[in-house]
Order: sequence, then structure tokens, then C-alpha cells
Amino acid sequence: MKNTVLTFRKAKGREKLVMLTAYDYSTARIMDQTGVNALLVGDSLSSVMLGYENSLAVTLEDMLRHCAAVARAAKSALVVCDMPFMSYHINVEEAVRNGMRLLAEGMAQAVKLEGGVDFYPVTRALTRASVPVMGHLGLTPQSVHVLGGYKVQGKSLVQAQKILDDARAQEDAGAFALVLECVPAPLAVRITRELTIPVIGIGAGPGCDGQVLVWQDMLGITENPAKFVKIFSQVGQAMLTAFTAYADEVRHGVFPSPEYGYSAPDDEAFEKLR
Ligand code: KIV
Repeated sequence: MKNTVLTFRKAKGREKLVMLTAYDYSTARIMDQTGVNALLVGDSLSSVMLGYENSLAVTLEDMLRHCAAVARAAKSALVVCDMPFMSYHINVEEAVRNGMRLLAEGMAQAVKLEGGVDFYPVTRALTRASVPVMGHLGLTPQSVHVLGGYKVQGKSLVQAQKILDDARAQEDAGAFALVLECVPAPLAVRITRELTIPVIGIGAGPGCDGQVLVWQDMLGITENPAKFVKIFSQVGQAMLTAFTAYADEVRHGVFPSPEYGYSAPDDEAFEKLR
């Protein structure tokens, strides 16, 4: 059964929602088989897939291409695509056009954007234009230069009140879910309790309605992952071992051995070629 925004609404207070980032067809196909509720084509694409320093460099065209690849693999998961930096900041009209492109060309079923009260009109306009919106508050990586780095947000009462007000604004504007990144666990509990939409945490403790992780982080591929990352399997190490073994076998003429090759009815005949 395909997960939809209704699956998310119904899950609130009943069952935990599971989301993973995905950026390509092959990985998304494996993730989809596990029954995760959503695949997020995050703008973390910029750093984890394309090697940029932060998430500001990724373009709408990049997101469209990767989102369509993930959507082709997602038989059951809801596909949510990040609206990249600059795609919803200039004006509401541009934001709506870009959001609609992510659904029409990128084949996403929802978009995610960072921001609270200030982005109320954008979320409202997108929702009215039939583009479901997932909000994103707390540590918002597109604002890295304003925040002064990747730091835990909402530690002071003033900051925490602002995040709660922003969360209320996004819910009011029509967001169907909210990502809360890198905030103290008790603040996440407070926000999750108040909102009627599901809150998906990342570095926000166990009290949220669901969790999301970047897959390169949880498989031990990312260098120096954040404190909140649990490594579920050392896939990075397994890849290193396999690539090293392959290089070694090629260099020593061990691979490919005969069973990995092809022959013809008369192999000797090729010697007669002039
Ligand atoms: O881009 C991303 O990967 C994200 C997650 C960290 C939620 O926004």
C-alpha cells in the first residue's frame, strides 16, 4: 500500500513514522522494500552525493533529477523532496511554480521547506496549489550562515519559544508534517504534544512521532557524523574492504578467473584471425 499524507496524519499518536533520505534509484529500491513510510530526497544531496561543503549549492534541476530516480523506485514509500535554497525565498509565485515542478517533473508526492512564521505565506500558497508541505525547524542547514554553524537549536527559552511559534505557524499554514532537527529532547516532546501533525525528529530525541536519518550517516559512510547518528551497520568499512580486494585481484591477475568469462564453440578459431 502506498503511503500518503493521510498515512502520516493517521499515524499521529498511534505508530512511529520512519523516514530515510534517498537520492538514487538503486538505494531507494532497497529502502522501499523495508516498508519505510517516506523517502526524503534531501538537499543533503549537495554534500553527501555531490561533495559540496553545504546544502546551498544544490539546484532545483539537481533535485528534480534525483527525485524522479527515487520516485521510480518508491512503490510504497511517500516521496518527499526538499525545496532547495533559492527555490522558495524570492517570492510566493516562484515558490509555487518550483514546488509544482517537483511534483510534476520530479514525481514527488510532497515537498519539504525550512522556515516558520516567515514562510507561512509560502506553505499556505503551496498547500492551496495542491502541493503538500512538510516543514523543517530547529537546525535548518540552509540557514547555516545565519546560525553561525551546525549547532543545537532551542537551548534557551527565547529560542525554544520561537521554534514553538514557528511550528504552530507551519501547522496553521497547512503543513502535513514537520521535521525537527537538533533540538533538546524535552523541547521536541513539548512541540510534538501540542501539534496535531506528526513531528519527525533528527537529533531531537525519542519523543517525536517518527525519525529520519541520512543513510550515509547511519551506514558509517559519512566522516565525523553528528552525535545523534547511530551507525546501524559499518557499510562504509565493508565497501572499503570490497573495493580494496577488487583492486588487489585485478592487479594480481586473479580477477576475472575463467568462470567470469565467455567462450565460443571454437575458441581456437580466433587464433586464425588476421
Ligand atoms: O536534507 C536532509 O537530509 C534533511 C534531513 C536532515 C532531514 O533535511
